[in-house]
Amino acid sequence: MEQKNLVDEIIRLKKERDAIILAHNYQVAEVQEVADVVGDSFALSKHAANTQHKVIVFCGVHFMAESAKILSPEKTVLLPALDAGCPMADMVTAERLREMKAKYPEAAVVCYVNSSAEVKAEADICCTSSNAVKVIKSVKNKQIIFAPDQNLGSYVAKKVPEKEIILWKGFCITHKRVRADEVKKIKELHPNAKLLVHPECEPEVQALADFLGSTSEIIKYAKEIPDKDIIIGTEEGVMHTLKKENPDKNFYLLSPGLVCTNMKKTRLQDVHDALLNMQHEISIDEEIRVKALKSLEEMLKIS
Ligand code: 13P
Ligand code: SF4
Repeated sequence: MEQKNLVDEIIRLKKERDAIILAHNYQVAEVQEVADVVGDSFALSKHAANTQHKVIVFCGVHFMAESAKILSPEKTVLLPALDAGCPMADMVTAERLREMKAKYPEAAVVCYVNSSAEVKAEADICCTSSNAVKVIKSVKNKQIIFAPDQNLGSYVAKKVPEKEIILWKGFCITHKRVRADEVKKIKELHPNAKLLVHPECEPEVQALADFLGSTSEIIKYAKEIPDKDIIIGTEEGVMHTLKKENPDKNFYLLSPGLVCTNMKKTRLQDVHDALLNMQHEISIDEEIRVKALKSLEEMLKIS
């Protein structure tokens, strides 16, 4: 089917199914264009929790669709590309987290949303990259296990020095690719450019940034600043909105490695097929879902 026909069909099926399409900022441009909402992990969770539509088509990776199902169990949640996972989320399991909890009985557990429902079920509260500092500050315990992203965790630890953060050793394979020497090189090429970086990057890359934030925070900041030249230190999908919203600015991707292959698995055809065949439906064990919901609700309460 031609792209135009595919888009028309998606719009028709969306109405027929009473569906909403949510897309993460890292999705390919044509998927972002057909979505009702494009945003960061936090904004998309909130939309999933509040939508009136019967069906949620989640264009992102598995843990995101799973969070939507945890928050809206009465809805049908579809993940168009079934094999779109997040390697970072797979770096922590409920069993290993329970072992860590046993080792640090005084510690609270803060869990980045990039994790499975089983892991969220073991946590006291979840966080995203946009609210991690606020979440850590809200926790009463001095000692906190932060899982799974050690780079986001070390960023938060610097911002909230009064807490003792025990870091899980997980990382994002996409953001980890960026090296400090790449930063130096691109800064030499664009000496007046501002550098906006996601906290999933390595600490030595973070240290060179003018601004650190979630994908949507980066998009918002780029729009607000008067600077014309901006280097982007997160996955290349954000370039679509950045260029669309700021046609007068120049955006440079910090590293060619900033492409998440899992985020790029969802194509227009998959969105179409998801709506046509009602695939691939997310389901979660109810006992796990209820426990994971508590951690997500704690986050939404304070954000
Ligand atoms: P945010 O959209 O919350 O910044 O998350 C980035 C990310 O890597 C999601 O997998
Ligand atoms: Fe996971 Fe990193 Fe891809 Fe985000 S960018 S989905 S954290 S691998």
